[in-house]
Amino acid sequence: MHNIVLIPGDGIGAEITRSVTKILKTAGADINWIECQAGEKAYQESGDSIPKETLEAINKHRIALKGPLTTPVGSGFRSVNVTLRQEFDLYSNIRPAKSLPNITSRYSNVDIITFRENTQGLYIGKEHWVDEGEHAESIAVVTRKASRRIITAAFEYAKTSNRKKVTLVHKANILKLTTGLFLEVGQDVAKEYPDIEFQDLIVDNMAMQMVLNPKQFDIIVTTNLFGDILSDLASGLVGGLGVTGAANIGDDAAIFEAVHGSAPDIAGKNLANPTALLFSAMMMLEYLGEDSIRNRILSALYKVLLDQKYVCTPDIDGDGNTITYTEAICAALRY
Ligand code: NAI
Ligand code: MG
Repeated sequence: MHNIVLIPGDGIGAEITRSVTKILKTAGADINWIECQAGEKAYQESGDSIPKETLEAINKHRIALKGPLTTPVGSGFRSVNVTLRQEFDLYSNIRPAKSLPNITSRYSNVDIITFRENTQGLYIGKEHWVDEGEHAESIAVVTRKASRRIITAAFEYAKTSNRKKVTLVHKANILKLTTGLFLEVGQDVAKEYPDIEFQDLIVDNMAMQMVLNPKQFDIIVTTNLFGDILSDLASGLVGGLGVTGAANIGDDAAIFEAVHGSAPDIAGKNLANPTALLFSAMMMLEYLGEDSIRNRILSALYKVLLDQKYVCTPDIDGDGNTITYTEAICAALRY
């Protein structure tokens, strides 16, 4: 039995976590879910976007499956996602984007995994006013130690999963100190892996190259904000945010969540695609060593995509909804 913290989150979070926990149960995963709150709903209910009980539960169990959390734009509380990643030192944000059967996209055979540094960079929102309302500044932090561990994680993954190439993405022509340091560490780490091809690209060129010819990329490693943007781009290459899962992994804790956010435009409408969070949950099953359950879920998912596309959600050109899609995957698992 695995004790796992479940944070349904905001927007479509309740719908997709309901779907995914049902699929995992049907597949025979022996999980005791400890349900906790965080995000905008938690803030409205208790005045705290990340209640103490939630932090305590993750601290105790060291593993969570998390729905998306709404973060107010411009003002309001700080991102709970950033807080959780820093609190539990979840330095690897791993985001696979892989073409799926029967999902229409401009590309086929895309198979990219982005390793995004998850605790530093411009993304952590270290900002202050120099002159309130007139002059704001933001600080990007990059350290050798944090760069080394994410870049090493990317190379180690490449080695153990027989991947051929690591592309490091930076902006060291302009941000010479911060992303320059990240690049320097990458060049250093690459020497320890002579069998893996190493390439570095400047982020703006990278964005263009990914759209032009995504098949040239295998593993990407980059700083926090670039990883955030490029992983959404990678999702767009394989069918959208509805189909890409992710994992936040540290040395002794992990939180699994989708790449996408709370999708307020479709929340509560039974239209959310549960595939993204399902992929996150499959990464969680791998992390737990439950590979056979993970593989059964993947086969059931592929079967539904191939044979019953009509039950799927509209974002991937189905005529169904969250529930019909979930039920079809469960039926395929029972079969
Ligand atoms: P979003 O990812 O929520 O939505 C972008 C677009 O993708 C929308 O059109 C949405 O309907 C669609 N989409 C996303 N997930 C989908 C799914 N499972 N099925 C079908 N369509 C899906 O990004 P947006 O609108 O920029 O952000 C909304 C909120 O989410 C913001 O408050 C943001 O801070 C938060 N957010 C939270 C994340 C997290 O908890 N890890 C990650 C990204 C954003
Ligand atoms: Mg994002």
